[in-house]
Amino acid sequence: MPKLDIRLKTVARMIRDDTHADVGSDHGHLLFALLKSGRIQRGIAIENKQQPFANSSHRLAGVNADVRLGDGLSVLHVGEADSLSICGMGAKSMVRILEGFPDRVPTRVIMQPNCEPELVRGWGLRSGYHIETEQIAWGHLPYQVVCLRRADSPDDAAYEDVDHDAALLFGPTLVKRRDPDLFRQLSQERAYYRELGQLTARSAERLKIVETLLRIGPKSEI
Ligand SMILES: C[S@@+](CC[C@H](N)C(=O)[O-])C[C@H]1O[C@@H](n2cnc3c(N)ncnc32)[C@H](O)[C@@H]1O
Repeated sequence: MPKLDIRLKTVARMIRDDTHADVGSDHGHLLFALLKSGRIQRGIAIENKQQPFANSSHRLAGVNADVRLGDGLSVLHVGEADSLSICGMGAKSMVRILEGFPDRVPTRVIMQPNCEPELVRGWGLRSGYHIETEQIAWGHLPYQVVCLRRADSPDDAAYEDVDHDAALLFGPTLVKRRDPDLFRQLSQERAYYRELGQLTARSAERLKIVETLLRIGPKSEI
């Protein structure tokens, strides 16, 4: 696969479909790498701003990709893509994009929010998309990457046998498998909050969850 940073490489490894759409494609690197490596056959890049649209058009010239100028899923047709990624944005914008045209969201979605991944998981629970895989991509920050799949059953089994608030904030599968990268993130958060001293009610609540998880500890390496 052509070179991607660790964040986009983690996303790319979750994608193997015929047609993949990337909303907020910007530089176009993700679709370019997916096409060149044969992980997808056709790409659809979507951008709502002129310069990133021009960047994507330049990068994706000569490969099997459409580059479209428009707001989120307004320029994607129902059933046109098998999977969709949205990366490098705040989760509020991502959820707004997904909820703008619910019938255009493909079967699989891969999301890499820069913050508040719990909003993406909340969208999945409300919309019948179950967690397929979750991973932490450790770039200059720990980025959560969440892959969800449309399901027939209402309840997502990933949330069984795990504290719901902890699961929403930090990922049910990451918590259950005691992912070492998650525990590294939790240790950093605890140190940060302890240094701050004075906490808002919300941060204090989050710290309580962080400390509870840290008491369990990561899975030990063999
Ligand atoms: C910070 S960049 C991330 C680029 C790339 N996805 C990545 O992760 O490296 C976010 C991109 O999303 C685009 N964007 C934001 N909101 C959008 C929307 N509603 N529809 C399409 N593109 C959008 C922005 O123009 C920008 O190019």
